[in-house]
Amino acid sequence: MMKQLKIGNVTLPNRYILGPMAGVTDLPFRVLCKEQGAGLLCMEMVSAKAILYNNKNTESLLEIHPDEQPVSLQFFGSDPKIMSEMAKRVEERPFDIMDINMGCPVPKVVRNGEGSALMKNPKLVYEIVSAMVKAIDKPVTVKIRKGFDDSCINAVEIAKIIEEAGGAAAVAVHGRTREQYYSGQADWDIIRQVKEAVSIPVIGNGDVTSPQKAEELVKQTGCDGIMIARGAQGIHGSSPR
Ligand SMILES: Cc1cc2nc3c(=O)[nH]c(=O)nc-3n(C[C@H](O)[C@H](O)[C@H](O)COP(=O)(O)O)c2cc1C
Repeated sequence: MMKQLKIGNVTLPNRYILGPMAGVTDLPFRVLCKEQGAGLLCMEMVSAKAILYNNKNTESLLEIHPDEQPVSLQFFGSDPKIMSEMAKRVEERPFDIMDINMGCPVPKVVRNGEGSALMKNPKLVYEIVSAMVKAIDKPVTVKIRKGFDDSCINAVEIAKIIEEAGGAAAVAVHGRTREQYYSGQADWDIIRQVKEAVSIPVIGNGDVTSPQKAEELVKQTGCDGIMIARGAQGIHGSSPR
């Protein structure tokens, strides 16, 4: 019997999660993944500031199909006030979980201190998570990386801060640094270390491209959820694993 995964008040039908991919996990793709049994669907990242300024291209990113629940909406940003106020503004929409992006490696995002740049700013991580949790009733989760670069491998520290910020419902860990982008092999041991360090559910991510690898990831790390991104597109990545 498969262990159930509960994220806040949301019980997932299974532990297999479609990872968020900008330009990929749009509504039609998510509905296809739902048909194939995904336990949770993650939307494409959305800029909190774009919502503030009523950017017209953002509206389509927020569209949700009635059949796709449970679904997670991901914000990126760096201003706790804007992020939490925009979370409140969209809360009535039919998503189930609000996720915070602390992993995006794209220069434009990192330059603004957003995405993976937050891995270098533990104080701001705390402020963003606590503001978001206070602002909305829906469960708040965070997606992080192994660290920023080889000199800043701090997923364990950041995960503890996320937990301490009070009320975060889960943390997803991608076992690569920002410097690695999406190449090389994901470090599953960092996922194990995070799992040992926090008591909120930990979602493991990176290089799951087959049922066997999913099983292996759980065995090696004890993670509660398995997040599959490129594997859902049939992309086997550059990893030799
Ligand atoms: C094209 C592409 C777009 C992505 N967009 C996002 C995103 O919007 N938000 C996010 O948190 N991660 C994003 N990611 C990262 C994935 O969710 C995942 O962490 C990464 O690909 C590693 O998992 P995998 O080996 O299963 O692909 C993206 C990855 C790719 C390849």
